[in-house]
Amino acid sequence: MSDNKPLNIALIIGSLRKESINRAFAEYMVSQMPEHVTVTECQIDDLPLYNEDIDTDTAPESYTRIRNQVGEADALLIVSPEYNRSIPGGLKNAMDILSRPKDGSVLNNIKVAFVTASPGTYGGRSCGFDLRKIMLPFAAQVLLAPEVYLSHATDALGEDNKVSSERTQQYLQKFVDAFVEFVED
Ligand SMILES: Cc1cc2nc3c(=O)[nH]c(=O)nc-3n(C[C@H](O)[C@H](O)[C@H](O)COP(=O)(O)O)c2cc1C
Repeated sequence: MSDNKPLNIALIIGSLRKESINRAFAEYMVSQMPEHVTVTECQIDDLPLYNEDIDTDTAPESYTRIRNQVGEADALLIVSPEYNRSIPGGLKNAMDILSRPKDGSVLNNIKVAFVTASPGTYGGRSCGFDLRKIMLPFAAQVLLAPEVYLSHATDALGEDNKVSSERTQQYLQKFVDAFVEFVED
């Protein structure tokens, strides 16, 4: 029996589409997590666009939901494409919501890691860089290595949209192992 303390990871997938390749990589990583790790996906496609006027005592329930999910987790994992060399709008909106209230943001000192994937040459790395940048004011603890920007990422998926490349599987396993160690540290 494992004596590891249970870990709770909040997962945000930056793509909203059903056949998302980023979702496929996220699902593979989740399947490779050790038994004592629970991953909870945070829904972002129903979050109203961030607006300070509605972020009051009667803020949308979905704002409270995602803040609680991330706030209660031991760490946050974000898996995302880049859109126009930056963070996709839906994900940026979620980060804006998580960034408030300013003094009590659940992003403060959070442990976080990023994985990006793209069918293109650069693997979505501009999104990864921009995510790192927006975490700076929160003194977040960002997993710096291994950096994972999956380029030509569709080549690693089979017809069933699951990760079929052994090389990519091994690479993602290294990331998963490093991430769990980082969260436990
Ligand atoms: C609005 C939009 C902007 C995009 N911009 C980029 C980009 O800057 N760099 C890139 O590598 N791919 C870009 N792409 C292509 C995405 O990487 C590709 O559609 C990818 O499959 C999206 O991830 P997903 O499969 O997880 O939804 C863009 C796609 C869309 C829809």
